[in-house]
Amino acid sequence: MIGRLNHVAIAVSNLAAATAVYKSTLGAEVSEPLPQPEHGVTVVFVTLPNTKVELLEPLGAGSPIAGFLERNPAGGIHHICYEVPDILAARDTLKAAGARVLGDGTPRIGAHGKPVLFLHPKDFCGTLVELEQA
Ligand code: CO
Repeated sequence: MIGRLNHVAIAVSNLAAATAVYKSTLGAEVSEPLPQPEHGVTVVFVTLPNTKVELLEPLGAGSPIAGFLERNPAGGIHHICYEVPDILAARDTLKAAGARVLGDGTPRIGAHGKPVLFLHPKDFCGTLVELEQA
């Protein structure tokens, strides 16, 4: 059911420092910071030949990554995103298999303008999984 790895999201408390690591130390192609107030984060996209890394910094009060950064002050992998051809079919298949879909199960429009859903980490090897319709 799942297809390509769309991105790995890394939560960071200092986006400028994290961007410098990826740009200067690792020599990657990085975007300008992109504030996404509707998602409570500012994102820098790191473009790799086969996938993307997204550096996420909290934006505003009640950011969804604030708690994660309190538990992981040095930052860390927050979620991984897999592409699926049909997000509603994927949701229904996973729910039928007993997996927990976060929120009310209605896909939201994610950072790339496509519908996304998140799956409970306890059902997926301790990893928060995002599904994005390809
Ligand atoms: Co994501």
